Amino acid sequence: MQSVNLPIDWSPDSWRGRTALQLPQYPDADALASALGELRALPPLVTSWEILTLKQQLAEAQEGKRFLLQGGDCAESFGECTSDVISNRLKVLLQMSLVLVHGMRKPVVRVGRFAGQYAKPRSADTETIDGVTLPSYRGDMVNGPEFDALVRTPDPRRMIKAHARSAMTMNFVRALIDGGFADLHHPEYWNLNWVGHSPLADEYRQMVASIGDAVRFMETLSGSEVHNLNRVDFYTSHEALLLPYEASMTRQVPRHWGWFNLSTHFPWIGMRTAAVDGAHAEYFRGIRNPIALKVGPSVTPDQLLRIVDLLNPEDEPGRLTFIHRMGAVHVAEKLPPLLDAVRRDGRRVLWVCDPMHGNTESTSNGYKTRRFHNIRSELEQSFELHAASGTRLGGVHLELTGEDVTECLGGARELTEVDLERAYRSCVDPRLNYEQALEVAMLIVRKQAQIGTPTEV
Ligand code: PEP
Ligand code: CO
Repeated sequence: MQSVNLPIDWSPDSWRGRTALQLPQYPDADALASALGELRALPPLVTSWEILTLKQQLAEAQEGKRFLLQGGDCAESFGECTSDVISNRLKVLLQMSLVLVHGMRKPVVRVGRFAGQYAKPRSADTETIDGVTLPSYRGDMVNGPEFDALVRTPDPRRMIKAHARSAMTMNFVRALIDGGFADLHHPEYWNLNWVGHSPLADEYRQMVASIGDAVRFMETLSGSEVHNLNRVDFYTSHEALLLPYEASMTRQVPRHWGWFNLSTHFPWIGMRTAAVDGAHAEYFRGIRNPIALKVGPSVTPDQLLRIVDLLNPEDEPGRLTFIHRMGAVHVAEKLPPLLDAVRRDGRRVLWVCDPMHGNTESTSNGYKTRRFHNIRSELEQSFELHAASGTRLGGVHLELTGEDVTECLGGARELTEVDLERAYRSCVDPRLNYEQALEVAMLIVRKQAQIGTPTEV
């Protein structure tokens, strides 16, 4: 495939000529240069052929032949780069994808928010506690969360550590998958403890049993083992916020033209750094990865079309994903004009709903949380709004964990504000716990069945 031209006047560092929001101020320029030099020599975390395969699958999702499931932590932390956290996150994503495949009758593209989700945009550059002002925590790749002057000072060595932790995470995920962890013959291996006591357990168990039956039926029919059921593909994604790191991982490879960000398969631009003339858009326009952009309620149809022109001038299939995150109260007003503008312009994008980030609020006892019914409402409205606009909702983007946390309110177990104190572990945004995540997968299936499959995009 050689159809897309390299952008002119672009290099992995051309973003340095633009306004770059949300980047830390490193106090020691020499230490920064030396860390970036070291990163440039380290091996990549993913390969160009995996990236191009994912792009092809996202192109199929644009045509309605696949559904994208993208999920994971709001922010990974160095301390949670552990066997349990990684394998439980993988399990919950596998379980969700099983529910989606079974209910939607189409393949699911599985993309984790992991192996690199270490940099966070913040609403303020500094934080003041008891008269002391320090830089805000910007993710483990930049500084630490503890309110201490030394820990909060941006440290470029953290980028090297983030690369190493990402590599360890990737390595473990790949090994689990290659070793048969994701074998469809044994979905019972993916059980997390919730199956024993959840109100959703019966529905899930029936689904697993019917998949097992289907696999055995096909094998009996064909007289041999059904191939390709013992492994699934998993891709990685993160917000490519910290441009010095991303640029250092941007490479050319022997057998494909152009530049690839080899730190992840599928980087995205966050809502706060999505300006068309900003540094992040400049960096993203030159890489060949499939890319995504978060679209919030303040984006106008005009701005969105300008972004499409910049990021996907040749209308390449699979290249561009828009992740809308409007909030349950705004989505009905804000989304349709954007859908109509892109559809009228005949531009190819994959539409994905993030029902998390527009629905964050603070409780009276001081927790940042999200209500399950708002998450559900934004998701369900999004399916309906796409159907009404003649576009297609091709995926979902979620913050979730395989751990039994209590960070979002509601869900089948009806978590209340008092429950938040029990297991609130996120240092940034509240995540769905495994049970709430499974519930979201089930409600997607129900909603999709109710809407039917749109025949045109
Ligand atoms: C996020 O995905 O964690 C995030 C910060 O989202 P957004 O850019 O949509 O606010
Ligand atoms: Co978040």
